[in-house]
Amino acid sequence: MLLTCQSGFESLLGAEVAAAPLGTVDASGAGWVRLGAVAAGPVPELCFAHRALIDPVEISGDSVNALAGRLCDWFMGTLRGEKIDGVWPSVWQAPIEIPGLGKRLGSVEGEFAVLLKKRLSRVAKLAVADLPRGTCAARGLFVFATDFGRVYAARSAWLGGQRRMADDPAAPSRSYLKTEEAFVVLGREPAPGETVADLGAAPGGWSYSAAKRGAQVVAIDNGPLKGGALDHPRIEHRQEDAFRFRPLAGQRYDWLFCDMVEDPKRVLDLVTQWTRGRWCRHFVVNLKFGHADALALLDQVRHSSESPLRDCAVAQVRHLFHDREEFTLVGTLRD
Ligand SMILES: C[S@@+](CC[C@H](N)C(=O)[O-])C[C@H]1O[C@@H](n2cnc3c(N)ncnc32)[C@H](O)[C@@H]1O
Repeated sequence: MLLTCQSGFESLLGAEVAAAPLGTVDASGAGWVRLGAVAAGPVPELCFAHRALIDPVEISGDSVNALAGRLCDWFMGTLRGEKIDGVWPSVWQAPIEIPGLGKRLGSVEGEFAVLLKKRLSRVAKLAVADLPRGTCAARGLFVFATDFGRVYAARSAWLGGQRRMADDPAAPSRSYLKTEEAFVVLGREPAPGETVADLGAAPGGWSYSAAKRGAQVVAIDNGPLKGGALDHPRIEHRQEDAFRFRPLAGQRYDWLFCDMVEDPKRVLDLVTQWTRGRWCRHFVVNLKFGHADALALLDQVRHSSESPLRDCAVAQVRHLFHDREEFTLVGTLRD
């Protein structure tokens, strides 16, 4: 199995899969780890993995044409006995840290498409160069380049839901991208008229993200709102301590957002108060592990009886594409 992740987080991912236990790392590079023996059964929930290529093959070639030709031969071989009637994802990825590799893989992808069209035009036409949205198992073609002469390819993948999001020039912070991505992972986003409490809101990226969808936001932060969040008609700014903020008696917010640079355990306790009190229906919460043990924190989130995840019908913990030294919890409470 080949797992991909954000570059720089390979050892955290390796430790996570060892603890799962899913397997042990036998090779790794920028943005990927390869597992030798893998435990049987479905891929467990992983935080630091962005996707898992199941039973990948390693294909080498010293030119674009050689790589594309070998990939096409292998792909054709895997189609035996399989009927493709609908669209299928054709997802090609290279770590951005290796300059020029993405461009090179793009050329291989282009040449592969030409070859496949010649050999199996009907199947080639059904390829979609986009990741399915959300967390799911997917069948298609998944290619990951580790260097200029080598790719891993698989027909099946587990997807964690992470993806690069498009920026909005009116968004006041790049943090905006995190909540946009979190909505994709959860498979739900604030709807017009829904209510949001945003704890640690400034300069207002998350609040802006909800308000632009028509939600009504209370943004709690002593700091100033900026950009598209400043004076937004659907954002009420309250300069208060987010640890003391509570809904009114009987009030339930549709969404809790929480993105405070504070001790992550304290933040987790606060979020659990919100979920135990049923003060929200859904949440997006970012925990900063810069000064904490990321895996111990992850373990607490997943296994403590005091975790907000205990109160959820659906929940995921992910190191997002747009996260740094932090991970993000998304959830929908049980009704
Ligand atoms: C990473 S920033 C939030 C960015 C925001 N999500 C966005 O999209 O623009 C963290 C914020 O948490 C706020 N914060 C930290 N402790 C807080 C507290 N006790 N009460 C309210 N805000 C707090 C800080 O003032 C800071 O503005």
